[in-house]
Amino acid sequence: MRVLILGGDGYCGWPTALRLSERGGTVAIVDNFSRRRIDLEQDIDSLIPIALPEERCAAWAETGGGPITFHKIDVAEDFDALANLVAEFRPDAVVHFAEQRSVPYSMMSSAAGRYTIRNNLMATINIAAALVETGVDAHLVHLGSIGVYGYETLGYEVPEGYLKVRRVGPKGQLGPEQEMLHPFNPVSKYHLTKVLDHLGLAYFAAKNGLRATDLHQGTVWGVTTAETRRDPRLANRFDHDTIYGTVVNRFAVQAALGKPISVYGSGEQTRGFIHIEDALQCIEGALATPPRAGERVKVVNQISESRRILDLAHIFADVSGSQIAMLESPRSEPEANELAARNCAVFNFGVSPTLINRESVAELIDLARDRASAVDLAKLYPNDAVFAG
Ligand SMILES: NC(=O)c1ccc[n+]([C@@H]2O[C@H](COP(=O)([O-])OP(=O)(O)OC[C@H]3O[C@@H](n4cnc5c(N)ncnc54)[C@H](O)[C@@H]3O)[C@@H](O)[C@H]2O)c1
Repeated sequence: MRVLILGGDGYCGWPTALRLSERGGTVAIVDNFSRRRIDLEQDIDSLIPIALPEERCAAWAETGGGPITFHKIDVAEDFDALANLVAEFRPDAVVHFAEQRSVPYSMMSSAAGRYTIRNNLMATINIAAALVETGVDAHLVHLGSIGVYGYETLGYEVPEGYLKVRRVGPKGQLGPEQEMLHPFNPVSKYHLTKVLDHLGLAYFAAKNGLRATDLHQGTVWGVTTAETRRDPRLANRFDHDTIYGTVVNRFAVQAALGKPISVYGSGEQTRGFIHIEDALQCIEGALATPPRAGERVKVVNQISESRRILDLAHIFADVSGSQIAMLESPRSEPEANELAARNCAVFNFGVSPTLINRESVAELIDLARDRASAVDLAKLYPNDAVFAG
């Protein structure tokens, strides 16, 4: 299979490129280094140093991997370069990770919010239009978010994209069962982009027969994969800052240092999680089961488990002996919610998921401990936290 990976320099994109290459795919990656630029702008960095794409691709070839080519293109801004690459490479599938993915970044300023919306939406529209206009019938797999449904308690299992409904007629009679797109409720500009992306994909699927899958992914945790462990130059990102470090990875760094595990608000927020290895397996599963032309966008809930943040904090505190610190939440989200979602990792693709427990987090804590001297405490906790000193 020929696969084009947009955002292939990132946390999810790079290990996906390696995995698909390992499976025998012909892989090309595209990135514009916007994430490395934001790291510099915000004075943050991956805890594990990451090589540049050319060095990464060369290291992969040296360790016996197939050729991976790298193309520096801004997917949101340079439609012609993207369309030319699509026409030349003629992918069977495109996996689209090329978006600004931090909720806090999207909410930090007007400019960052507008950049996130423009970048993410235009990246999605451009790749969909490039496939349609070049006549390349590739399956487009987009990374969305399980957070598009909001963080209120819905009281039922979130279906994969579409809700079964029956219309109530004027005399109270029930119409036939139909399926409609489940209502969205974005709580941040980042989540808004995922909603807009979905509508863009739905438009091109309906009007142009684009074959598209939207993976409503939960928070990804873990760092290494079978392929990234082969050589230090293949290392994946380990974000631990309050902008890009997601909760499990940050808790691991805090635990490794014996510092307080920082919980925002009541800690009774429930979120969906998936380990990076399982996310890769789900992507492989999605690539193996594309929708047909003319079918609606296929939606998959890419989570392995739903967990309460406070429960996760207790696991890390138990393993490390750290205290738990309850901090005022810097986010405007509900203090508590339940989340039940039909999840692909277990049901759709036969993944036997890595769940968050004492054993599974120990490896992550060890990894963080090896890099303890590189931790920036001022970035590990929100600005006003007392633990940064
Ligand atoms: N990491 C998670 O926990 C998580 C959870 C749910 C969904 N997702 C989604 O998965 C995707 C990948 O996330 P990630 O964690 O790998 O993020 P990341 O920031 O590590 O990687 C994204 C990559 O895309 C590139 N990029 C962004 N805009 C681009 C553009 N216009 N042109 C070319 N390249 C561009 C960046 O430079 C970066 O290398 C995102 O769409 C994100 O919303 C991630």
